[in-house]
Amino acid sequence: MKNIIERKEYSRSQFTEADILADPFAQFASWFHDAALAALAVADAAHLATVDNNGHPDGRIVLLKGFDDRGLVFFTNYESTKAAQLKANPFAAVTIYWPELERQIRVRGAVEKTSREESQAYFSSRPRGAQIGAWVSMQSKPIKDRVTLDDAYRAKEQEFIDEEIPCPQNWGGFRLVPNNFEFWQGRDNRLHDRFAFHLKNGSWQRQRLAP
Ligand SMILES: Cc1cc2nc3c(=O)[nH]c(=O)nc-3n(C[C@H](O)[C@H](O)[C@H](O)COP(=O)(O)O)c2cc1C
Repeated sequence: MKNIIERKEYSRSQFTEADILADPFAQFASWFHDAALAALAVADAAHLATVDNNGHPDGRIVLLKGFDDRGLVFFTNYESTKAAQLKANPFAAVTIYWPELERQIRVRGAVEKTSREESQAYFSSRPRGAQIGAWVSMQSKPIKDRVTLDDAYRAKEQEFIDEEIPCPQNWGGFRLVPNNFEFWQGRDNRLHDRFAFHLKNGSWQRQRLAP
């Protein structure tokens, strides 16, 4: 086998017991703060892993739109493949990778829908084009061609002309409620720093893991 990309060392930083915070939510917020300060090309994209009815894993990127002490929020179509998988199996794993900071965060937990009010509030903050897009896209369903999509967009645009666009019933947020976090900082010689948090009887247990 031939390497397709040149080998890279991870030597930018370190992450030790002296650095890590006791509360994984605070640690998550702190790393997001660093990501914001570093003005990364993309800081909010996360891989979302779900499991289908047959127990087979699936994955895709979503944008994290919110985070607080309840969990991580993303928005999507409630009739999409991921939503069907989350209905059948309401657990997920989110993985974030920031190459510029040589950091990875993994979060696992149960997933629940956000309240309609939360979904509406976020929907109303979206640009108008994205709002119309949410109405038009029957996400994950087969469509005949691109023209069908573009025609549907123009028709909806006309339908809502001069009107506030309501949040579609089949569109909204999910919140991943964490029971596991892992923070990974790349280090030299592949001896990376890894800290895992696991929720046990209502309190967070922390362990350093071998890389
Ligand atoms: C950078 C990026 C951001 C994305 N953000 C979202 C998102 O926030 N919500 C969403 O439903 N899909 C988003 N997508 C599209 C998903 O990756 C996926 O194609 C779509 O949600 C359908 O997935 P599903 O068929 O598994 O439901 C994004 C894709 C990329 C590459």
